[in-house]
Amino acid sequence: MTAQLNPRGDVAVLVPAAGAGVRLGPGGPKALRRIGGEPLLVHAVRRIAAAPSVHTVVVAAPPGDADAVRDLLAPVAELTVVAVVAGGATRQESVAAALAAVPAGPEIVLVHDAARALTPTALVESVAEAVRGGAEAVVPVLPVVDTVKEVSAAGLVLGTVDRSALRAVQTPQGFRRSVLAAAHAAAVDPLTDDAGLVEKQGVPVTCVPGSEYALKITRPFDLALAEYLLTSTRYDGEADDGPR
Ligand code: C5P
Repeated sequence: MTAQLNPRGDVAVLVPAAGAGVRLGPGGPKALRRIGGEPLLVHAVRRIAAAPSVHTVVVAAPPGDADAVRDLLAPVAELTVVAVVAGGATRQESVAAALAAVPAGPEIVLVHDAARALTPTALVESVAEAVRGGAEAVVPVLPVVDTVKEVSAAGLVLGTVDRSALRAVQTPQGFRRSVLAAAHAAAVDPLTDDAGLVEKQGVPVTCVPGSEYALKITRPFDLALAEYLLTSTRYDGEADDGPR
C-alpha cells in the first residue's frame, strides 16, 4: 500500500495536532479550527502530502478525536499514507506517540506543527533535502525583526539582546530518525521543540531559510491573517517570501 502510493519517499512527517489552542480563545482544539472552510490540520497535511519525499504522515490527534481526524484526512490519504494516533498531555508526548507509530522504512523524520497550516511544500522538501545531504538535525529559521529585551517579572527591562545572532525557529524540523529517537528516549523536561531535545544530546543542528507562510497560528490575529492569506490573490500556497 505504502509503496504504491509513493515509492520514492524516504521521509516520515509527524504532525502534533493535540493542543487545546487556549490562546486562540474558545472554539475547540486548535488543529480543528477552520480557515477557508477547512480545519488547519487538513491544510497542513495536504501541503506535506504534496511533497514527493514524503512516505508517511503520522498525526497525533486531540484526545477523543482520533476517529474524526481520520475521517477529515481521508481525502489527503489518497496522496500518501496517513496514520492517526492519540496525542498526549504535552507537545513532546504527542510527538513521542507519533514517532512510535512510524513504520519501518523512512530514515528521515520531520516534525511539523499542525498550527503552521500554510507552510509551503517547498519548505518540507528543503528541510528533508538538508537531512539527506548529511545534516543530523535541521531547523528552518527567520531573522528576528523586533528589538528583543530581557524583562524582569516586575516588568523592568534588564537588558537588550543582540538580535543579529537571534533566529525565530519554525517547523518542519528534520532529523535522522535514529537521532530523534535517541533524543526522545533521553528527554527529561518537556521542551517546546524537538531540536531542543537534540541539542541537549550534543548533536549539531543546522539552519535553513524558513518561510513567512510557515507562521504558527496561535492567537486570533494569526487566524485572521491566515484566512486573509488564503483568499489573497498574491498567495498561491507556494509563494516566495521575497527579500527578508
Ligand atoms: O501550543 P503549542 O505551541 O505548544 O502547539 C504546537 C503544536 O503542538 C500544535 O500543532 C499543537 O496542536 C501541538 N500539541 C500537541 N499536543 C499537546 C500540545 C500541543 O500535539 N498536548
